[in-house]
This record gives sequence, C-alpha cells and structure tokens, in this order.
Amino acid sequence: MELKSKNAIITGGGGAIGSEIARRFLEEGACVIIADNNQKALDSVYDKLRGMGDIFTKVVDVSSESSVNDLVDFAEKQFSGGRIDVLANVAGIGPFKKFIDTDTETFQRVMDINLKGTFMASRMVSNKMMSTGGGSIINMSSTNGILAEEGLVSYNASKAAIILLSKTMALELGKYNIRVNSVCPGWIRTELQDKAGLPKEMIDNYIKKIPLGRAGKTTEVADLFVFLASDRSSFITGTEIVIDGGQICQE
Ligand SMILES: NC(=O)c1ccc[n+]([C@@H]2O[C@H](COP(=O)([O-])OP(=O)(O)OC[C@H]3O[C@@H](n4cnc5c(N)ncnc54)[C@H](O)[C@@H]3O)[C@@H](O)[C@H]2O)c1
Repeated sequence: MELKSKNAIITGGGGAIGSEIARRFLEEGACVIIADNNQKALDSVYDKLRGMGDIFTKVVDVSSESSVNDLVDFAEKQFSGGRIDVLANVAGIGPFKKFIDTDTETFQRVMDINLKGTFMASRMVSNKMMSTGGGSIINMSSTNGILAEEGLVSYNASKAAIILLSKTMALELGKYNIRVNSVCPGWIRTELQDKAGLPKEMIDNYIKKIPLGRAGKTTEVADLFVFLASDRSSFITGTEIVIDGGQICQE
C-alpha cells in the first residue's frame, strides 16, 4: 500500500482520469475527497468506488475562490488530524477554437478553471501543508503545455503556465517539505472521447505520431499520480513528467 494513511483531494475527480486516480489512490490505502463541479458525475463515481475505503465527494467550482475555500475547509474537517497530504489538481477544460475565433470570454474561462483553479487550490492547501509537515501537489498539465496544437490556444497557454506555476511553487515550498510537480499526458483515450465518436481517420493519424502505437490509458496516468503522491518520489519536485508513449520525442 503506497499511500496508506495519506489524505488526498482530487479536483476533477468526476472525470475520466480524475476518477481513475481516485480509484488507484483508494486501492493504495489513501483517504480521498473527490471534488468536481458535476454532481451527477460525482454520484456515479461514488457509486462505483464506495466500499473501497474512506471516500467523500464534494461539489466544487475550482474557478471560484469561495468554493475552493469551502473544499479545503471540508477536507480539514473530514481528514484525520485535519491533514491534507496530497492535492491532485486535475479539473480542466479544453474547448476547440482557432486562435482567431477565440473570444475573450472563452480564453478567460479556460484560464479561470485550468490555471487560476490550480493556483487557488494549491495556495490554500499549501498554507495547510506548511503547518502539518509537508505534502505533495500534483498539477495536471499536458503535452500541450510543451508543444502547441492547433485549435487549442487557450488550453495550450493554460497548460504551459501550469508547468511554471508548479516550478515556482516547488522553489518556494521545498523548505516546508512540500513537493510540487506537473504531469503532461499525451493522448489518453477516455470513454467520453469514444462516445463522441472521433473520426477513424483522425484516430489513425494521431496514432501514427505515437512510437508506442496506441493512445494511453487512464490507469497509466493514475499510476504516475500514485507514484508522485507517494514517498517513493520523495526527491522529485519542480519537474514535469511526460506520459505520452514517446509522441513528443519527434515533434
Ligand atoms: N484525456 C486526455 O487525453 C488528456 C491529455 C492531457 C491532459 N489531460 C488533462 O487531464 C484532465 C482530465 O481530463 P479528462 O480527459 O479526464 O477530462 P474529463 O472532462 O473527463 O474530466 C475533467 C473533469 O473536470 C471537471 N471540471 C470542469 N470544470 C470544473 C470546474 N470549474 N470545477 C471543478 N471541476 C471541473 C469536469 O466536470 C470533469 O469531471 C484535464 O485537466 C485535461 O486537460 C487530458
């Protein structure tokens, strides 16, 4: 059990990757708060995972300071000793729009959820971790935070900013034993994408770019989160870990 007696918050825990992270954290013995702005998704994840261990759900809008504050207060009350050991900032959106068609509202909304949400939750949780001996913060970036992809200008910009946000936090928080890293997945195939029915040609073209010849699985990303949350990664901070089947070696 890699995460025995660790207390973890996962934002975006109602989604494909977030819910898999929650499942793996529970398997490894963590006590978990799954937070999301989609109540229906939270209910469905709770139904699937209940019985696996200590699990709570909480509605949160990560773009709202008061809502994030409520989440952190809730965590302090639920978790033993009021300790938060792990924060996984996974909530995110990525609307497709060409740069020239991207209106300011869309750009702002993506920044508010992906970047400001990560900033606010991290800052509030860091304040708690500083007085409880430290912890691990894992921020979801993307290979889109390293290399640009057309049609995703706001998303790319937000994910790139998350990498340097994380590095700066790592610099300033190391002395409190708080580690901060970002995770950069390439294409991770999810149920939602399959339901959306991506055109076969698009899938084939994408797979051609991946040396391992396939999309990633949510559980592969979740395993990386387990590692970064665990004491096995105790000397890893301020870095971004790419998990993309080798895709960006060659772009
Ligand atoms: N799937 C991929 O290929 C891939 C690749 C790289 C990075 N990522 C990143 O991984 C994360 C999860 O992606 P996913 O594929 O599981 O998507 P998803 O849409 O299934 O999950 C995202 C979750 O975030 C929640 N969310 C959105 N806005 C929110 C808000 N304001 N407050 C709280 N929760 C909110 C959604 O309700 C959803 O449950 C995202 O940050 C995404 O950018 C995904």
